[in-house]
Amino acid sequence: MNDFQYIRINIEEQIAVIELNRPHVLNALNRNMVMELVQAMEMHDRDDDVRVIVLTGRGRAFAAGADIDEMASDDSITLELLNQFADWDRLALIKKPTIAAVHGFALGGGFELALCCDLLFASETAEFAFPEVNIGVMPGAGGTQRLTKLIGKTKALEWLWTGERMSAKEAYELGIVNRVVAPELLLEETMRFARKLAKQPPLSVRFIKEAVHKAVDYSIYEGMQFERKNFYLLFSSEDQKEGMRAFIEKRKPHFQGR
Ligand code: CAA
Repeated sequence: MNDFQYIRINIEEQIAVIELNRPHVLNALNRNMVMELVQAMEMHDRDDDVRVIVLTGRGRAFAAGADIDEMASDDSITLELLNQFADWDRLALIKKPTIAAVHGFALGGGFELALCCDLLFASETAEFAFPEVNIGVMPGAGGTQRLTKLIGKTKALEWLWTGERMSAKEAYELGIVNRVVAPELLLEETMRFARKLAKQPPLSVRFIKEAVHKAVDYSIYEGMQFERKNFYLLFSSEDQKEGMRAFIEKRKPHFQGR
């Protein structure tokens, strides 16, 4: 399971915990690390024994952004031909629920990575920022888009233009973060929630995720049509039969993801 160089993986109780593992550079995201991350996420997405994916960072940060050393001497054509952000696009296509557990810095690409996840649990020590502007660039892995969709144009511009750091509390108040917890409880609380999610019927969880993501881009009418199709589709599942039968028989359902 740990054939990777830049990430570590641990699976327990149907939850895959992926840990970014370059602590000496605050988990700066080099291209190989992102490739490994995509590979691992897609592998768990296809694995029936995994129901939730948790992403966290080893050491004192979640991730301090893209690896500046790696990209400092790149030119535009190199970047265009590398097309590295195609890997990031794949991260956003993961169908299972993903939760970022963030402590310390989540900067630039690190913040973008956390925003790629469905839910975000933060330690009280977490700090979020898009500091790209301070080094003469801008976010390239979805930061301007995802932050704006989450908190609106006015607030997003403020954070993106200044590159200032926001505390976990500010991120919570802006609706970026689901929970803020004491540092020593971050993983425990995240896992507690993940375990709850892992017990929910996987197909419902999957189709709800798909429908909610559509709500971000679709008109309300298109979104409703999409939701409806997913609702109908669930009536082909054994879990729908089991869930409703269990309700009628007044017992706990046993969901299998089929
Ligand atoms: N890339 C490469 N190395 C990084 C890094 C990064 N993004 N962030 C930190 N490091 C390295 C440092 O160079 C340092 O390495 P050495 O010990 O070999 O010198 C090590 O991690 C520890 O960092 P510091 O000594 O700087 O630790 P600190 O506590 O004093 O400061 C920090 C921490 C404020 C996060 C500071 O390291 C920093 O500002 N990092 C850069 C943050 C940044 O600009 N991120 C955006 C990158 S661009 C991007 O992400 C583009 C995109 O959209 C994809």
